[in-house]
Amino acid sequence: MAAAPFSIVNVFDLEAPYVTEYRRLLHKILAAGSHSDIKSIMVTSAMIAEGKSTICSFMALTAAVKRGLKTLIIDADLRLPSIHKLFGLPEAPGLVEVLTDGVSPKDAMRKTSVENLDILPSGRQSDNPTEIFDAEAVGNIVEELKFYYDLILIDCAPLLPVSDPMLLASRVDGTILVIKAGTTQRELVERAVGILNPPQNNVLGVVLNNMNHILPYYYDYDYYSYDYRQSPQGPTKIIKKPAPARRPKNKPAEKDPTLKDNIGHS
Ligand SMILES: Nc1ncnc2c1ncn2[C@@H]1O[C@H](COP(=O)(O)OP(=O)(O)OP(=O)(O)O)[C@@H](O)[C@H]1O
Ligand SMILES: [Mg+2]
Repeated sequence: MAAAPFSIVNVFDLEAPYVTEYRRLLHKILAAGSHSDIKSIMVTSAMIAEGKSTICSFMALTAAVKRGLKTLIIDADLRLPSIHKLFGLPEAPGLVEVLTDGVSPKDAMRKTSVENLDILPSGRQSDNPTEIFDAEAVGNIVEELKFYYDLILIDCAPLLPVSDPMLLASRVDGTILVIKAGTTQRELVERAVGILNPPQNNVLGVVLNNMNHILPYYYDYDYYSYDYRQSPQGPTKIIKKPAPARRPKNKPAEKDPTLKDNIGHS
């Protein structure tokens, strides 16, 4: 029997500490404006592989499951689409068919196994994504779909190699810039911010990905994590896990030369 396709839904753990971070993120973003102000959010980064699709997916899952928001992810990264893979769905029909073949967005959309969460995948791969990506048309689709959804997250291409996110930024309610901490060079992030041009476009903020590898050990979730269920006193008692035998607090961390001048070590 063939194995079931991978789905990020199956690894989404409601009890995991990262869900708390996504809840905080959503709270900050959605509380920033009055409720209906921010409905469409583009997720981009300076370079490839900084975690855009992963963060977009977990944000959407958290919004749908924890906040009960009717949520849609649009995969607008026509060069390296991955939302369909993350959710174990076919890639087409999707945005490409909506933009080029007159397919209605409603017909290209997929329901996921999660209540309140739908996906508009990228669609078929093509040789000329630059020509197909029509930011005005994508913006119009997003506007149209706002009627049906509380939150629309748009997974987009990276800013430095591709012009799509720059063109779309003014057509969404806000943009999140994902930065892979410890890896992405400061100058690249500065250029990406320059392209986003915050006075003109609503840059909601940055999400630092990869922080586990950057923060000192006392931020480690394992160190601070607790388990209600193990408590003999009942469900409210917090039991701290014993601290791992690691560097004492007053001893400075050894410098990692590979992190010099990178974001996360300012
Ligand atoms: N916080 C994290 N911890 C561990 N792995 C991660 C984390 N964030 C992303 N990854 C992994 O890094 C890789 C790149 O992530 P992802 O595909 O989300 O990035 P992306 O910015 O969308 O990339 P692309 O530019 O190719 O679209 C994936 O294998 C993903 O599973
Ligand atoms: Mg991606």
